[in-house]
Amino acid sequence: MAFNRKDLLGTRELTVEEIKTILDTAESFKEVSTRSIKKVPTLRGKTIINFFFEPSTRTRTSFEIAAKRLSADAVNISASGSSVTKGESLIDTARNLQAMAPDAIVIRHRSPGVPHQLAKMVEASIINGGDGAHEHPTQALLDAFTIRERKGELAGLQVAIIGDIMHSRVARSNAHLLTKLGAHVRVAGPRTLVPPQFDKIVGESEGSITVCNRIEEALEGSDVVMMLRIQRERMSDAFFPSLKEYSIHYGLTLERLALASPECIVMHPGPVNRGVEISSEVVDSARSLVLDQVTNGVAVRMAILFLLAGREID
Ligand code: CP
Repeated sequence: MAFNRKDLLGTRELTVEEIKTILDTAESFKEVSTRSIKKVPTLRGKTIINFFFEPSTRTRTSFEIAAKRLSADAVNISASGSSVTKGESLIDTARNLQAMAPDAIVIRHRSPGVPHQLAKMVEASIINGGDGAHEHPTQALLDAFTIRERKGELAGLQVAIIGDIMHSRVARSNAHLLTKLGAHVRVAGPRTLVPPQFDKIVGESEGSITVCNRIEEALEGSDVVMMLRIQRERMSDAFFPSLKEYSIHYGLTLERLALASPECIVMHPGPVNRGVEISSEVVDSARSLVLDQVTNGVAVRMAILFLLAGREID
């Protein structure tokens, strides 16, 4: 099997072979969620800790469901319910969690690099559930899985990622992953929310990144459109005049979507702000795969837990 990592910290370091192993493994697990008894014994006796310092609906729930469908024991801790609120450092917290011998820890934290730090300190596999504006690898993997399921393969596809690129870990993880798989990524948003050097973030890859000045330019002939939420919680300044103006200039409407390929699919990592970055008509349209992404998130996270927590340790 082409996967021999202790941790999943980002898509930047993954090889094409490793990505394909995760996606193929997810494909084999997807069927488990369609059974009347949604459980396999694959990770019986393993312990997974979900440690979330930021709010989450999809990532945390789907990791818990994924662990339970694999028969692992899943434990959820939030920062507000942990002894971090009593002054315990992250390092001491991690050491104490390690002392209880978990097999994997899924962590979401507002500071970029926290999962990488923990990975050096604990024996358990560390899975990045989102670190600040840096990476959200499992989201990009489930996005790639969803695109592959619908389009067959990613090589040669035109993928438009639109919105708050600057603060988006989803955009960053997808830019690395989609271009490795040969897709061409176009990003667009207000100038203040698109890093001008964003096209330089990928190294050697089959695909490419283009920074577009206008949303229409990014949408033209696209096979996939990925809309992003404005990450107001990461903004210390005003990056655009008002949400209404943002919506007028950058919101995805049915009229704008008509610029894309007739078979174009629409994606969004959630949470969706209807009427801001995307209209309700588009979210609820037949072109929208927003809920398919959520369904596939369980299969992809089952695959990741299986490949990491189920690995043989020498
Ligand atoms: N896409 C995503 O990470 O959603 P949550 O914040 O609800 O986990």
